[in-house]
Amino acid sequence: MDIVSVFGMNILSVLMGLFCIVLVLKNWGKRRLNSRLPPGPSPLPIVGNLFQMDIKQPYKFYLEISKTYGSVFTVWLGSKPVVVLSGYETIKDALVSQGEEFSGRANYPVLMKVTRGYGLVVSSGVRWKELRRFSITTLKNFGMGRRSLEERIQEEAKNLVEAFRKHGDSAFNPKQLLCNAVSNIIYSIVFGQRLDYDDKQFKFLLSVIDRYFSFLNSSKGQLYNMFPWVCQRLPGPHHQLFEGHRKLREYVKKEADQRRENLDRESPRDYIEAFLVRMEEEKGQPHSEFVYENLVSSVWNLFSAGTETTSSTLRHGLLLMQKNPHIQERIQREIDDVIGSSRSPTVQDRQNMPYTDAVIHEIQRTFDLVPTAVPHKMMRDTEFKGYCIPKDTMVLPLLSSVLSDPKLWKNPHTFDPENFLAEDGSFKKTDAFLPFGLGKRACPGEGLARMELFLFFTSLLQRFTFSSTQPLEKINISPECCSFGKIQRSYHCYAKLRFC
Ligand code: HEM
Repeated sequence: MDIVSVFGMNILSVLMGLFCIVLVLKNWGKRRLNSRLPPGPSPLPIVGNLFQMDIKQPYKFYLEISKTYGSVFTVWLGSKPVVVLSGYETIKDALVSQGEEFSGRANYPVLMKVTRGYGLVVSSGVRWKELRRFSITTLKNFGMGRRSLEERIQEEAKNLVEAFRKHGDSAFNPKQLLCNAVSNIIYSIVFGQRLDYDDKQFKFLLSVIDRYFSFLNSSKGQLYNMFPWVCQRLPGPHHQLFEGHRKLREYVKKEADQRRENLDRESPRDYIEAFLVRMEEEKGQPHSEFVYENLVSSVWNLFSAGTETTSSTLRHGLLLMQKNPHIQERIQREIDDVIGSSRSPTVQDRQNMPYTDAVIHEIQRTFDLVPTAVPHKMMRDTEFKGYCIPKDTMVLPLLSSVLSDPKLWKNPHTFDPENFLAEDGSFKKTDAFLPFGLGKRACPGEGLARMELFLFFTSLLQRFTFSSTQPLEKINISPECCSFGKIQRSYHCYAKLRFC
């Protein structure tokens, strides 16, 4: 080794040493500042509590340590403190009673990168309030307008049944078809029309969503969120993901530009047109949030959040039917009694189908789609349960702790529709059913998702009996990965036609 390289290596080692010292001091400095944070397991410098948890399913670690630290505790993800809220009362006290303080959205680097900080999901404060109010009103208008949402879902359910029927007696993976059907509903609200299942653009859009959720849920995605400045410079699947998003933004922009040319201000036909009308109304206002970047990112937010969530839940539901044939049979008896075989299920039918309603709730409870909700952040320094949580701290409402709380459910850890049935067989409503979150940031798509789950699920079970390619005891119902939101593992199944 020559003298230059030895010298070079020494400099490198000194620089790396200095870098580590700076990080450690930064970390300790923050910890001193945050000394009134709730207690939690001791973190290591730089990595925090990372080595104590399974990075692919951190919520399991949070559930475990809540037994020691109670309902509010702090964990360190890298050098960042994160306050975790566990249990119904604590989550409600935070998200409802002090809703304004807890209403911020944490900086989640993957989300920030794909949305560039714009749109409904990642924003906080005035931007978020404006976009959320607009989106909820517009979803309502286009859902309940000329053609009711119910009719649209019924129509799409017929297409889905037909697509399933084509598989005849062969086993198939229902994933793509369920994504197509669910996605078409939010697509028609946002873009004003449905797409054929084998449309090339549709396939591209769904592949971007698929890659996005897979990455968010992978260990690589978690590491990216903790150390974005390092990961950005390394090779990996995120580069492909960001390239997909760039194309997706172009697609939305093209759609918006086409509409802008023939915009009918009196009668917008979809979410994009309604947004463009508002953009024109607020043109020239320097602080308007109705700008192009917010349009593109909000469209992406609605489209992605409205696709993977509901279709993954339906896939999980169909798998549970294969694992529990006696429950499937009982639902089919209820469908036969209340709906029969000649007409489509309606939303009204749900009132007369307590067992099916209970099963769908139980599918959502046990699936526990988003175990820690989408990360929140504090809008200001806040006193909570005797602690002081500083402005901008990330907060995770551990929805999982409520959905599996043994004090709230008869059988918290098994799939049992009795959890939602009263003694007399009627449906039993409970406040602890929180898969959509709670308070100001609760899911704005809840009404849509619940309608879709009921109409798609009953339409499929009205026509088909589902069975697995595996023996019952080998059916694995646990999801593929779940650091952000759960994704149902892929499977093949048979859909046997009940009648022609
Ligand atoms: C089974 C289906 C669904 C479940 C379980 C679900 C669950 C959730 C949860 C837990 C949150 C985070 C709440 C929080 O931050 O505290 C959320 C947010 C959100 N969901 Fe859903 N969701 C579903 C379907 C949908 C659908 C169909 C849409 C489309 C309209 C949608 C759009 C959104 C949006 C835009 C947000 C962000 C809201 C905000 O930041 O203010 N979701 N959802």
